[in-house]
Amino acid sequence: MPKRTSRRHSWAEPYKIKMVELLKMTTRVERQQAIKDAGFNTFLLRSEDVYIDLLTDSGTSAMSDDQWAGLMKGDEAYAGSRNFYNLRDFVEEYYSYKFTVPTHQGRGAENLISQILIKPGDYIPGNMYFTTTRLHQELAGGTFVDVIIDEAHDSQDPHPFKGDVDIAKLDDLVRKVGADKVPYVCIATCVNMAGGQPISLGNLKQLRQWCDEHNVLIVHDMTRVAENAFFIQEREPGYASKSVKEIVYEICALTDAATFSAKKDAMVNIGGMLALNDPELYDKACNLVVVYEGLHTYGGMAGRDMEALAIGIRESVQDDHIRARVGQVRYLGEHIEQEGIPIVKPIGGHAVFLDAGQILNHLPQTMFPAQSLAAALYVESGIRSMERGAVSAGRNKETGENYMPKLELVRLTIPRRVYTQAHMDIVAESVAEIYDQRHDVHGLKFTYEPPMLRFFQGRFEALVPEPATV
Ligand SMILES: Cc1ncc(COP(=O)(O)O)c(C=O)c1O
Repeated sequence: MPKRTSRRHSWAEPYKIKMVELLKMTTRVERQQAIKDAGFNTFLLRSEDVYIDLLTDSGTSAMSDDQWAGLMKGDEAYAGSRNFYNLRDFVEEYYSYKFTVPTHQGRGAENLISQILIKPGDYIPGNMYFTTTRLHQELAGGTFVDVIIDEAHDSQDPHPFKGDVDIAKLDDLVRKVGADKVPYVCIATCVNMAGGQPISLGNLKQLRQWCDEHNVLIVHDMTRVAENAFFIQEREPGYASKSVKEIVYEICALTDAATFSAKKDAMVNIGGMLALNDPELYDKACNLVVVYEGLHTYGGMAGRDMEALAIGIRESVQDDHIRARVGQVRYLGEHIEQEGIPIVKPIGGHAVFLDAGQILNHLPQTMFPAQSLAAALYVESGIRSMERGAVSAGRNKETGENYMPKLELVRLTIPRRVYTQAHMDIVAESVAEIYDQRHDVHGLKFTYEPPMLRFFQGRFEALVPEPATV
């Protein structure tokens, strides 16, 4: 339990700055050209044209001096690197899983587990979809089924655990298709697409029981498990005196296997893994990883990166770290909310999500309000954010129809240990400025739509004569 005095409520960063990277300021005219060149897709901007980069918290964190020192201890042997064994031991100590298969990043692990466990015609329930996770499930022949509680689809609902699973929805699925068509339930901690919302341990325990009764596995997307643990410590009765480290372990121990994008919680710039307990599944993963990633003792990672990852795991569960991390996100969210701007509530763990559907309620969802708002915010301020709405949701694989999710959001994602409180003030002010001009923001239409994960490389044009967005 972190020691808190009754008078101290602020969340100062538990580190000091040793090295800095200079930022470039651009003019509005330059940004108008840059977003046009990027097809109104913030993924296609050059990073040097960005002032504050809130595109993602993935691989964008600042490593500690310990992690940098760890890079020097890289054992770059092709096979059996000591850094692999070190990582494997850390994974078991902090996350409980016995076997570790390194991958180049999270989606590498998603590919492996989907190919190993899913047969064509299977159904994969999960607490809301994630883009790459669902795609790998579909490529393996499965169909994703959303079993998150209804509150998660309502941006204004204050439910403290919007990542919880609705067990009745699982019962429904099993009644319709039979449990033998459900190889596993896919559970994300701190559900990204719901706004960084946690699942409770109470719900996870219920789910464990349900899965045991139906002989179904739990695969844990543990990409943001430490942030989830913080919310449990803060909100779930009985956990206030437990450390984030203990809660993280308890969450993981309730699940059978995990995919991990190490680029988030664990604060490395690249890396991931599949972690498992079952020796047979581990053997299958070892056979498959050599096809897609590399030998089972490095997957897609250099020895030095595995070392930095092991150290990052240790740092990620420190109470002071996670309190400041979520504190910074909350600081930004509260500032934006004070301006009367609708955001997803409660404020999540890794990002503030603007409710673009509400902010640009003059645009139908077919004109991609969130994509439009992200482009407009960039032109206004040089701040890069990301669409998380209809563009990200893609199309139904059977019918080809566009999904129209209830959440049409712009994500302001905060990299860990990178930006200061003053940067957060600028972001809040810039969002307020674009909010004041919201009626002048126009919609977009696709000029190029990639067949898969279209949000990454899709291009758009503005649905008005120039000047385009604002
Ligand atoms: C919840 C979640 N799962 C999986 C992934 C995929 O991980 P990666 O980008 O490392 O492939 C991400 C990345 O954004 C994520 O947020």
